[in-house]
Amino acid sequence: MSIQEKTVLEKLAAIPYPGYSRDIVSFGIVRSVTCSDGKVVIQLDLGTGDRSVLGPLRDTIKGEVSAMDGVTGVDVRVTGAADGLKMADPNARPGAAQATGLENELLPGVRNVIAVASGKGGVGKSTVAVNLAIALAKTGASVGLLDADIYGPSIPIMLGLADRKPAVDGARQKLLPFERYGIRFMSLGFMVERNSPVIWRGPMVMKALEQLMRDVDWGDLDILVLDMPPGTGDAQLTVSQKVSLAGAVIVTTPQDVALADAVRGVAMFQKVEVPILGIIENMSFFCCPGCGTRTEIFGHGGGKSESERQSVPFLGEIPLDSAIRDGGDAGRPVIVADPDGANAGEFQSIAAKILDSLGTDTDRAGGGIFQRLKKGLKG
Ligand SMILES: Nc1ncnc2c1ncn2[C@@H]1O[C@H](COP(=O)(O)OP(=O)(O)O)[C@@H](O)[C@H]1O
Ligand SMILES: [Mg+2]
Repeated sequence: MSIQEKTVLEKLAAIPYPGYSRDIVSFGIVRSVTCSDGKVVIQLDLGTGDRSVLGPLRDTIKGEVSAMDGVTGVDVRVTGAADGLKMADPNARPGAAQATGLENELLPGVRNVIAVASGKGGVGKSTVAVNLAIALAKTGASVGLLDADIYGPSIPIMLGLADRKPAVDGARQKLLPFERYGIRFMSLGFMVERNSPVIWRGPMVMKALEQLMRDVDWGDLDILVLDMPPGTGDAQLTVSQKVSLAGAVIVTTPQDVALADAVRGVAMFQKVEVPILGIIENMSFFCCPGCGTRTEIFGHGGGKSESERQSVPFLGEIPLDSAIRDGGDAGRPVIVADPDGANAGEFQSIAAKILDSLGTDTDRAGGGIFQRLKKGLKG
């Protein structure tokens, strides 16, 4: 039997408002509860209340309600924020948004969606997304990669899949993702003619993306890596509102302009309450293949100091290395072409940090997977 509003309300009436003995229902912040086929939507109105309680409170509500019999998904929405946007929550924990299937109705079998983003193009966002997705898969996680960069879908080339067309499961009207180097992959690049200008404007971009997410048979995934279009504008904002993101990874290069863009990227995600998993500095330094001398072309280290300034994790630094570029051009990412090299090691270390922050929540759905992965047990 599916869950009733009244039963949920009784449960909420047993949850104290943080810092008080009074419960949240008698406190008057529960505005509505609706249930439909086991999916529960709870609307809170914090009014002028303390915003910092929001993260922990939302976690508690989700935990309690999703544990109830007959509940298949919980969505906690909040109104009353002054600017209409969800407020940044400094206590938000990565992965917290992913405890239920409901929030990602576009991607029902996906436990964690992480966005790889950059303020500007050409910083190596796609290169990082590809190598990172494969690195994550090497830990035993089931991983998908969605190339959502409509303005320059380059990943099909990087994976050696250019000019291919995805297969369709006719009966279910689903696109089948490619399987390559241990990951599942789909790109908007498959949907558009090669070399044709892609002049989709805002709403069309979103529509195409939504369709791509809905119509691809991803199956069960621990992590879907989303290669976002560059920039911090409407398209990026819409993506982060349509899909419940477990976190965002910001790719930057050490130049000041790129760093300034990275800061904007961090701010944008924080504004819509997406946890920042960290900053990666790409093309961080140049290692001479001949003599091994390390040259800091753009003045390396900006990513690290910027992440300290922003109080977000610094995930790692990738050198400017022709092997990385060649790997991309040849359709064999460096992590596959040279799995024991230093670059592969750096990507693997970044992947471990990301798994760590996604997996600290042992008590929630999905958390257990990462605990198992960390112990080296697949499944
Ligand atoms: N660390 C790196 N070393 C060498 N070349 C790189 C590195 N990162 C990216 N590139 C190259 O730079 C170009 C742009 O990278 P790409 O990943 O497509 O950037 P973006 O997705 O940010 O536009 C590509 O030709 C890629 O091979
Ligand atoms: Mg790209």
